[in-house]
Amino acid sequence: MLNCKAFGQTIKSPNFWTLSVVLIVFSIYAYSSISIVRLYPSISISTPIIKTPQPAHNNDVQAAANKTLEVQATTPALKVDQSSSIVVSNNVIVQPMNIEELEQEEQDGETPDPLIPPAKITKEERMEWFRKKLPDLEVLKSTNLSRAFHDRVVKFSRNQCAIQFFMIWFSPARTFGPRDFLAVETLMKANPHSCLVIISRSLDTRRGDKILKALLDRGFKILAVTPDLASLVKDTPAETWLKKIKNGEIDPGENPLSVQLSNLIRLAVLYKHGGVYLDTDFIILKDFKGLRNAVGAQDVYQATRKWKTLNSAAMVFDKGHPILFDFLQEFATTFDGSKWGHNGPYMLTRVIRRVGNTPGYNLTILGLEAFYPVNWVQIERFFKKPATEEESKWVEETVLRLSEESYGLHLWNKITRKFVINEGSVIDRLIKSHCILCQDSYDS
Ligand SMILES: *[C@@H]1O[C@H](CO)[C@@H](O)[C@H](O)[C@H]1NC(C)=O
Ligand SMILES: *[C@@H]1O[C@H](CO)[C@@H](O)[C@H](O)[C@H]1NC(C)=O
Ligand SMILES: *[C@@H]1O[C@H](CO)[C@@H](O)[C@H](O)[C@H]1NC(C)=O
Repeated sequence: MLNCKAFGQTIKSPNFWTLSVVLIVFSIYAYSSISIVRLYPSISISTPIIKTPQPAHNNDVQAAANKTLEVQATTPALKVDQSSSIVVSNNVIVQPMNIEELEQEEQDGETPDPLIPPAKITKEERMEWFRKKLPDLEVLKSTNLSRAFHDRVVKFSRNQCAIQFFMIWFSPARTFGPRDFLAVETLMKANPHSCLVIISRSLDTRRGDKILKALLDRGFKILAVTPDLASLVKDTPAETWLKKIKNGEIDPGENPLSVQLSNLIRLAVLYKHGGVYLDTDFIILKDFKGLRNAVGAQDVYQATRKWKTLNSAAMVFDKGHPILFDFLQEFATTFDGSKWGHNGPYMLTRVIRRVGNTPGYNLTILGLEAFYPVNWVQIERFFKKPATEEESKWVEETVLRLSEESYGLHLWNKITRKFVINEGSVIDRLIKSHCILCQDSYDS
């Protein structure tokens, strides 16, 4: 720990301070003001997947649809024609779970972000717009601080880390809220001898130090490090992609570029350093030792329980694992910034479907319970105070089940960030038993 702190101080010489202040100021302007934590729906409105309802779960499906409507109804900016957003015909239900649109609306409502292209423009107009923005996109540039990325991570990892974890934070430090802190806190509680690198420009600052101080003071090994995209993708199949993006030769697509860069960086950092990548909307419940070259299913086929969609919010990989190379290649060659999830969870799903069984890849696909024990439609119940004896019993059973089976609970932040955590709810119970600081409130 001392090593790590001493290191933190060397890197933050007065020169770096000046640079950091500039970076903070810029990042407030340049970065989305909300977390880029992803929500990857398996169903989208542009390419609706038609689900055949399970007779036994008809109520769940209806309740889920109701909940989706509730969530949408509380987002004033989003205009949903509620009467037509659920289509029920011939026993086929098309669920209006267009979480990506919801997320987009939320982002649009925040401070303007040069990484989010204007809506309703043609591809040519967007590329034109993007080329004008390029000189301002600090995230694509290398600085003295960013160029130290690799060395800083290597040096930090020598810190007797049981496991090397990575998270990414591209939003301004001021938006790193209690829920995001919760992910860091529960991770360190469950994996106290591990190290966490938060890949972030905004947190690699005095403000970031302040945010993490309470955990650093307790001896937890956490370091925020400014990323260097160019060196991260160097000698990988994504190197050309980055060059083309920097030259304005690729359409960044309708979705924020920060989301795509986050998809890319997690692959590149695992390829170059190995370890565990986690999104910042998890409650971590267990020690990760024993997990190797593993990802989790976020959706399974009801009948066979076999995995259907995988998610890239949690990934465990050895350094240089060949499938990471495959991921990077798929990312670079099939990139489409306008289809939600295409370069993230769906990319992962495509590649694993294709090469996951390659002998020697030793890949483990974990079940829903590992990281995504509840989906974003049903998760609201986890925040509610039990009102009846039956509900109390359900809370008990759920807390017990999660504690036994789950490495973490993905919170689908874009949906749940605004949910209040009721006392006695599943989430409240989990937080109380997995927190370190145990603040009064983890409501953002
Ligand atoms: C869903 O909403 C409809 C209309 O508001 C209601 O009649 C129905 O009981 C609700 N279903 C569930 C399972 O909550
Ligand atoms: C970056 O590093 C170079 C070489 O060490 C040095 O000359 C330059 O002043 C540094 N720039 C900043 C902004 O610190
Ligand atoms: C898979 O496991 C085998 C046997 O332990 C090992 O030789 C091989 O290197 C592993 N492959 C990868 C990609 O880690």
